Amino acid sequence: MAKKRAEKRKKSKKTAGKADPTETMVAALAHEIKNPLNSMMGASQYIYNKYSNKKDIKEFIKIIIDEIERLDRYLNEFLSFSRGITLNLKESDIINFLTGVIMLTKHSFPCEIKIIKLKEDIPVVYIDHEKVVQVMINLLSNSKDAVKETPSPSVDILVDYNKNFLYITVRDNGHGIDSSDIKKVFDPFFTNKNEGIGIGLTVCKSIVKKHGGKITASSIKGKGSEFKFSISRKAVAKRHA
Ligand SMILES: Nc1ncnc2c1ncn2[C@@H]1O[C@H](COP(=O)(O)OP(=O)(O)O)[C@@H](O)[C@H]1O
Ligand SMILES: [Mg+2]
Repeated sequence: MAKKRAEKRKKSKKTAGKADPTETMVAALAHEIKNPLNSMMGASQYIYNKYSNKKDIKEFIKIIIDEIERLDRYLNEFLSFSRGITLNLKESDIINFLTGVIMLTKHSFPCEIKIIKLKEDIPVVYIDHEKVVQVMINLLSNSKDAVKETPSPSVDILVDYNKNFLYITVRDNGHGIDSSDIKKVFDPFFTNKNEGIGIGLTVCKSIVKKHGGKITASSIKGKGSEFKFSISRKAVAKRHA
């Protein structure tokens, strides 16, 4: 088992190429933690089923299972951050794409998410669907958290473009961000949430950068926030087309 893992580590080192050493280390560590977690999950589920008639045992095992699941979620976020980002670009109608993203998230959302086109004839762009879905889900999930206490929550997606870029903005009327925090929101591990890890926006930033764009945040405390990112219409598309 240990030998297998060591071999795996060796292999992943070889294939890592020129990846950032910190990213490689995070990925290796996350994988090492994932294996024992899987065994713990299997064992916990076995006990949970075996003692299904013992209320107190079930209650405690359920706590273990929930916590293992939480750790697993954390690890997946770390892995998505550390995975060297190689894009798999596809020509995309962005309105269709965003409609699909809304379908994915709407069941857990407190309000309808509207798509607002700021111009007609939105051009096609070349994006890596899976990666940009991740950006959208991270932004929408932050908006969802931010509007929790808003009496009439609203979250919109605005689409705009110019000669060189397509722009997507996620706008919410949530609690907003302190002006002293706005510069830090893209920093790794910056979070204001009890259960947060502060890596969602860091992941967004690196994915957007790979698409030849930028992401910016603006906010008025108590009124809401806007996260706007661009996708290059030319450079990246040409290189990968
Ligand atoms: N839409 C938003 N409204 C208010 N604050 C936000 C919003 N998006 C991000 N933030 C702030 O930025 C921090 C970092 O976000 P993120 O990187 O996604 O990490 P996490 O969601 O785990 O805290 C959040 O903890 C929050 O303080
Ligand atoms: Mg987040």
